[in-house]
Amino acid sequence: MRLQEIKLVNFRKHPELTFAPSDGINLLYGPNGSGKTNILEAVHYCALAKGLNKSLDRECLTFETNYFLLRSRFVDETGVEVFVKVSYEKASDKRIHVNSEELKKYSGLIGRIPCITFSPVEMSIINGSPQERRRFTDNALSQTNKRYLEDLLQYRRVLQQRNALLAESADRGTESGSLGVWTEKLSMLAGSIISSRLEFFDRLLVHLEQIYKEIGLGEVPGFIYMPSFGKLLSKTSDEDISRIMMQRLGEIGSREIYRRQTLLGPHRDDIVFRINDVEIKKYASQGQIRTFLIALKLALQRFVREFTGEPPIFLLDDLFSELDRKRVGKVLQLLEGAGQSIITATETQDIEGVHCIAVSELA
Ligand SMILES: Nc1ncnc2c1ncn2[C@@H]1O[C@H](COP(=O)(O)OP(=O)(O)O)[C@@H](O)[C@H]1O
Ligand SMILES: [Mg+2]
Repeated sequence: MRLQEIKLVNFRKHPELTFAPSDGINLLYGPNGSGKTNILEAVHYCALAKGLNKSLDRECLTFETNYFLLRSRFVDETGVEVFVKVSYEKASDKRIHVNSEELKKYSGLIGRIPCITFSPVEMSIINGSPQERRRFTDNALSQTNKRYLEDLLQYRRVLQQRNALLAESADRGTESGSLGVWTEKLSMLAGSIISSRLEFFDRLLVHLEQIYKEIGLGEVPGFIYMPSFGKLLSKTSDEDISRIMMQRLGEIGSREIYRRQTLLGPHRDDIVFRINDVEIKKYASQGQIRTFLIALKLALQRFVREFTGEPPIFLLDDLFSELDRKRVGKVLQLLEGAGQSIITATETQDIEGVHCIAVSELA
């Protein structure tokens, strides 16, 4: 997938701006605060229906304005164009049109425009809380697997219902009769979600190992999926996972009522990222963490490409400030021929094959 053009109106720092990147590697440069990340965020909106780093729609309105509009044109590998329009007005929900047709649900956009980000803030995927790693996993899988996204949305609804029942049971001092039904529903969905995640990390690891080889650091990466209800054997079926979860939920029953919430399930799981068999979060240096994050994203790009046949657009924010020159060179080499990427930096760079664009020249 390639972005051909995006037009921003009243988006963040840009009252009006048009950006038309080339195929291949693009370097968007300008001083701090010149609105480079804002442009990546606009592209992200058109691909994934939301801004970067959990920002809210209304925060993206240019100060003192009451609507923003993003119009973009993408083209896929087969040459078919996709037009995405995102419009937002203060005090109403944002609206998304794909090829002039309005989407009923934002989730309908996910997967249409495969897109991967890399930014300094995302270091928290490696060294932050389990929630960050779950979000990474869910976002990645949702782009490639419609069924996963549906299961996940359904799981969240069922989880809410079940938590409400647990709270109700706590208030009444006795377990609600329908709790069992919701436990079963939740466990069924959990089986499907967890087994998709296991398969995802298995396949992602193949690419990650390859990328580490290509970077040539002599380090060996690894993942361990940690379900909240205890370790799983690597080849456990959906049904077995559901059964184990249901059994474990049965065992802790009254504790959940006391705590008024569901204590086990994919919403509580974690993924341990490792290098040379040790947990990165606990032992790795900042440099190793950065390298792992970029390698993880490069691996994800290959995974998405393999899965969908469509190379995702790669948005890399402040890449140069995050990696030393040697690693940047390596990363650029890996990005070459891997579809379209848009990198932001404070300075222009004279690197062969990199198309440089000054933010100040965009109008
Ligand atoms: N909603 C907004 N309206 C107007 N300006 C904004 C808005 N949000 C952020 N900005 C401005 O955008 C600038 C940051 O843009 P950013 O894209 O992060 O710059 P950089 O080029 O450093 O990546 C800041 O000066 C900030 O004040
Ligand atoms: Mg920035």
